[in-house]
Amino acid sequence: MNEKVRSVVVGTGSVLPKRVMRNQDFEGIVETSDEWIRQRTGIASRHIAGDGETTVSLAEEAARRALSAAGLEPADIDLIVLATATPDNTFPASAVQVQAALGISHGFAFDVQAVCSGFVYALTTADLYLKSGMARRALVIGAETFSRLLDWQDRTTCVLFGDGAGAVVLEAHSGGETEDGRGIIVSRLRSDGAHCEKLYVDGGPSTTGTVGHLRMQGREVFKHAVGMITDVIEASFEAANVGPDEIDWFVPHQANRRIIDASAKKLGIAPEKVVITVDRHGNTSAASIPLALDAAVSDGRIKRGDLVLLEAMGGGFTWGACLIRW
Ligand code: UT7
Repeated sequence: MNEKVRSVVVGTGSVLPKRVMRNQDFEGIVETSDEWIRQRTGIASRHIAGDGETTVSLAEEAARRALSAAGLEPADIDLIVLATATPDNTFPASAVQVQAALGISHGFAFDVQAVCSGFVYALTTADLYLKSGMARRALVIGAETFSRLLDWQDRTTCVLFGDGAGAVVLEAHSGGETEDGRGIIVSRLRSDGAHCEKLYVDGGPSTTGTVGHLRMQGREVFKHAVGMITDVIEASFEAANVGPDEIDWFVPHQANRRIIDASAKKLGIAPEKVVITVDRHGNTSAASIPLALDAAVSDGRIKRGDLVLLEAMGGGFTWGACLIRW
């Protein structure tokens, strides 16, 4: 491991399916209301994949946009790490399907499965490959079509999720290039499988032979979320010797506005530094952080030199945080 190497984000990209579903559109499907969904979650609308839109097709488009923002070609990439819980096929990995779609036949590509924490896990994994010298430029993608896992009769889950994809290009910088301190500074990952029945899918190739549907004890997940999120962030602060005041942008996983606000408050991060997209994306699982990152980069909020804090928590439970000098 070369500690002098830093993995620097040199481009971001994202894409959302064309179809927008507003809270009001659920009112004829399940017993719910726009008011309940807004108050309890902060969600107003989400995008839902249509015919021809899949995890791989969304991931490919997000990757192309990230490459274009970085001024790079697919041939410049030698590693693809794709976080998803909704792959196009049980195998091969969606990452190799994206690799083929981009016309890349060198390097290597694989999927990471950590549900809503998938992007933080994928970014940390790619960072370690770059630091090890096994790869030089990585595409890290979070892509999901959770709408296809939902039980559309279950009002406690179907209103919460959306589809989309986001990607970043990570580049290994070494020696003098790292003097400006850019790149991933620290990551911390956690999991505790004792909580697996609180958020899971009730099917799979080795059990039912079907894809299954998402099941969640929402209140139970909520109960653990803020504590787990703040613990792993505080561990990251300590490892990097930084405090909440030094954070320029907090880009949390977008599951519920109340969880985001409570976490920021507990950590002492000012509300104006928090990037929010849950209102218009819903919970897009592994895609939520790269979608939010790209939104805040595209509108000029996140700028070179900013200290950016990422955080996620989800099924498993899995959770993690990442500090990046942009
Ligand atoms: O990304 C992975 C991590 N996932 C999360 O972070 C999700 C964490 N959990 C949550 O965000 C929240 O727990 C929910 C948004 C899922 C639910 O909010 P809550 O404030 O915890 O509500 P609740 O589950 O305690 O339900 C309150 C009531 C229940 O009725 P009763 O039992 O009090 O009569 C539910 O049946 O709200 C009812 N309810 C609904 N009502 C209208 C549940 N879903 C709906 C709905 N519309 N869609």
